[in-house]
Amino acid sequence: MRRNDLKASDDFDGRLRNRFDDVEQSDWNPRVFRLPEAEKPGNTYMHWRGEYYVQEESAAVPVDILNPQPGESVLDLCAAPGGKTSQIAARTGNRGELVANDSSRNRLSSLQVNSYRTGAAAATTCRDGRDFAGRDRFDKVLVDAPCTGEGDRLRRGEGAADPENSEGLARLQYRLLEAAARLVNPSGAVVYSTCTLSPHENEAVVDRAIEETELELAAPETRVPHDTGLEGFEGQGFDLEAGKLVRVTPRHLDSGVIFCARLE
Ligand SMILES: C[S@@+](CC[C@H](N)C(=O)[O-])C[C@H]1O[C@@H](n2cnc3c(N)ncnc32)[C@H](O)[C@@H]1O
Repeated sequence: MRRNDLKASDDFDGRLRNRFDDVEQSDWNPRVFRLPEAEKPGNTYMHWRGEYYVQEESAAVPVDILNPQPGESVLDLCAAPGGKTSQIAARTGNRGELVANDSSRNRLSSLQVNSYRTGAAAATTCRDGRDFAGRDRFDKVLVDAPCTGEGDRLRRGEGAADPENSEGLARLQYRLLEAAARLVNPSGAVVYSTCTLSPHENEAVVDRAIEETELELAAPETRVPHDTGLEGFEGQGFDLEAGKLVRVTPRHLDSGVIFCARLE
């Protein structure tokens, strides 16, 4: 779970420890707490009040790397159900502008409910992120892209995703990243993230964005334990500084999979 500083009371940490046995604070992010699997953190009054958001520990990494600041304008291009929108709002203290977009009308209601519950002051829109057009550009853009979700597949004991699915999604993911390149301020930053392992959806998408847009890879500032990116896969070399890419797998946090690239 992630403590939501917009709603958490001053004595949050103590109340959490009273409510749950064996709560452990994450060592790379003081707002993240680990609970034993048997606990049901979605069933408490603290949760209902929005004092925390239930999520995988790895899911807190992209916003950590985006590092949004109070006063900045931020676009969350693929936002539902809103975990990262809520994290962005908490990081900026709701000072600034936050637009949370998702192309799925069905998923938009969960985004709105979660934003309401966690007190995230986000304007929600329902557009295809590839065609998103705003009046202004944004200081920060998060592209938490739809992906084959190999992290979840691992947990369910399933194998790798079908490479054809990965390649189809990679075209969509690239278009979303290309839109982000248009939507970000010249001095701003974009974070691209997925929860899959496939290099087709990760390094290859970032490689193409560096080649075909004005985005450049930047060094991420994060304390999360991670591997760096791949320099090539199945005979395809990537022309990027793989040391600047972040790959978190279950062996790092005993949590999910996350891939992140910070581009400026
Ligand atoms: C990985 S999920 C996002 C999770 C979310 N960022 C969070 O932290 O709760 C990817 C989202 O992308 C949305 N999506 C898929 N295609 C899209 C598109 N073309 N434009 C915008 N959103 C899209 C999906 O509906 C889905 O909600």
